[in-house]
This record gives sequence, structure tokens and C-alpha cells, in this order.
Amino acid sequence: MEQCDAVIVAAGSGTRLGVTIPKAFVPLGGKPLLAHSLETFIAYPEIDRIVLVVPAGLVDRAVDTFADDKVAVVAGGAERWESVRNGCLASDAPWVLVHDAARPFVTASVIDALLVMRNRFDCAFTATPVVDTIRTFTGDTAGKTVDRSKLVRVGTPQLFRSSLLPKCFDLAATLPSPPTDEVFLMQQIGIPAGIARGDPKNFKITTKEDLEIAEGMLRLGMK
Ligand code: CTP
Ligand code: MG
Repeated sequence: MEQCDAVIVAAGSGTRLGVTIPKAFVPLGGKPLLAHSLETFIAYPEIDRIVLVVPAGLVDRAVDTFADDKVAVVAGGAERWESVRNGCLASDAPWVLVHDAARPFVTASVIDALLVMRNRFDCAFTATPVVDTIRTFTGDTAGKTVDRSKLVRVGTPQLFRSSLLPKCFDLAATLPSPPTDEVFLMQQIGIPAGIARGDPKNFKITTKEDLEIAEGMLRLGMK
């Protein structure tokens, strides 16, 4: 199989978490949040190189803390897609796997499920089923129930054929609002996206409650 590098985006601020340090550097289980997924990728044999994307002011600190033969550190941008772009520019592998540092519980089996998609797709992502009843609303009044059997929860890691990314980033720069992921951009340029089985435990830490749940999971040995 052709080589795949990992890009871990960790340059967000964590506005919804309500923290004063960037979210990826907030402690979880006694180490920075980003260290959890970084260790999983370092231990994953098929990935030779990891690009860690951190806020510009924390590059030196990240180099000191996370330096490893496999790990390069670059500065992120104001929007997630700009951080992904900066990370991808530091890779010369034919494939890149993009992962949110905010998802500490990624596992080797989730990465396995994504990497096999290289056989059939130029773009793929991990996802989990929607289990709640989903309804539209206006103000405090409910609208229609949405058919959840046609929906998935999109997660990371996500996989891309590197040669297609420059066109995606060119497009992103022209959009009125920033894309939430690169799968959206791939679809806009006509590339089909495959769906690989994710793991509900690989949820994204967004709020204070998510961080509390993650601490509880670690205490229970769920990693
Ligand atoms: N991210 C990034 N660069 C940005 C914005 C986000 O690298 N300019 C990364 C975050 O560090 C995170 C992932 O993208 O690992 C998913 O983003 P999100 O959960 O939204 O994190 P934040 O943007 O930090 O949080 P918030 O939106 O609450 O500010
Ligand atoms: Mg964000």
C-alpha cells in the first residue's frame, strides 16, 4: 500500500470548552489532550510520519514536549481548514489522514477501517450512526422529525489522496463561510467519499461535560 502520513490538527482555541489555554493543551488524564491521539498514531506501524498542527505561539513548546523521530510540528491557521492545509503542506506522502486532536480515543481498529478504503476511494471518513431522534425547530417550537436512518455522525480520522487537496484548499479560500471538513471540499470538486466504521467512543471533546466524560472513561480504563 502507498504511504499515508497523519496530520493531527490541534490549533483550535476551545471557545466552547471555555478554557484559557488552547483546547488541545488542556490536561486529560494527566497529559495534554493532544498527547492521547498522538501516542496512538506513533504506535500505529503503517504510519511513518505525523504532522502536528498547533497554534503559532506554541510551536516551540510542542517541539520540546512531543519531539519524536516520527513527529513534525507546524503552525496552524485561523480556521480548521487552514490548519489542515498547513499540515498537509508539510507532508509529501501520496495519502494523508487528518485527525482532530480533540478526539483522544481514536483506536488502531478505527485507523485500520479507514486505511482499507484506499482500495476503493480517494476520500473517506469515519462515522457513527445517529441514535437520537432528530428534529428541526424554530425558536422553542418543534418542526419535523428527520429520518435518522439516512444520517451519519461524521468524525475523524478522515483520509485523502494528497494530489486532490490543493484544488480543495483553493476552493475553500473562495467560500463565504469556512468548511467544517475537507470531505465537503472533496465532494464539491466531484470526488465521492467513502464511509468507514467509526467508534462512538472516539467522540470529540467540545464542552466541559465532554471533558468530564473523557476523564471518567480514562479512570475506568476505557483506553
Ligand atoms: N482546529 C485547528 N485549527 C483551527 C480550528 C480548529 O487545528 N483554527 C482543530 C482543533 O484543535 C480540534 C479540531 O480542529 O482538534 C476540531 O475543532 P473544534 O472541536 O471545533 O476545536 P476548537 O476550534 O478548538 O473549539 P471551538 O470551536 O469550541 O473553539
Ligand atoms: Mg472550532
